[in-house]
Amino acid sequence: MSKGLFISFEGGEGAGKTTQIQTLKTRLEDAGHHVLLTREPGGTPEAEKVRDLLVKREGGNWDGMSELLLFYAARRHHVETLIKPALAEGKIVICDRFSDSTQAYQCYGHGIGHDVFKKIDALVIDSFKPDITFLLDVPVDVGLKRSKRVNDDTKVLSEAEIEDRFERLDSSFHEKLRQGFLTIAKDNSARFCVIDALQSRDDISAAIQNAALNALKAGADV
Ligand code: TYD
Repeated sequence: MSKGLFISFEGGEGAGKTTQIQTLKTRLEDAGHHVLLTREPGGTPEAEKVRDLLVKREGGNWDGMSELLLFYAARRHHVETLIKPALAEGKIVICDRFSDSTQAYQCYGHGIGHDVFKKIDALVIDSFKPDITFLLDVPVDVGLKRSKRVNDDTKVLSEAEIEDRFERLDSSFHEKLRQGFLTIAKDNSARFCVIDALQSRDDISAAIQNAALNALKAGADV
């Protein structure tokens, strides 16, 4: 049996990850692959509980290091009990955000040291990384406008339910985030596929599908 493929999607707010993730899942399933769709923070019932602490308005006012440790508590559970077993069964795992989000948001965004991130990443999940990461890159003003439109269209939630602790940060934070993601992509160019998310939805899906199929083919040739 093949060893599976671990794909992650990254990007700032309003980059259009959700639509593209769904499209890729459908196309891979149509091609006969077994796909597990998951997300971070979250993915397992236990990690989803930690997600509530991190992303909901009522989740608490965590200092940067506590926040980092909560992300990694959830991530370890997710990796060990869901992602690795699925990969061992030969599945394709598509994860909406993974550890690159931590480096972008917590380090580039909130100023946690990159050395701290790397040490914790090594200690907690043995620096486990996706095989391929799609970064959907969009200028900050376009992304924030898009994400506001999506939020306005969603059902009415109580104040406490709204998952916007990170979206409420100002545009200079989002600019640091965008540049952070681009730097991480440059530093890990063998794994990253940077997609210009200003292109049409169809062009974006085609680029993603091609890269994913090539990665599968490369894995099969090993
Ligand atoms: P989510 O609603 O999933 O955001 P999005 O739709 O933009 O993916 O909320 C997750 C939020 O958590 C998002 O703003 C990014 C942030 N985050 C971090 O700060 N660090 C991390 O390691 C991860 C995985 C997410």
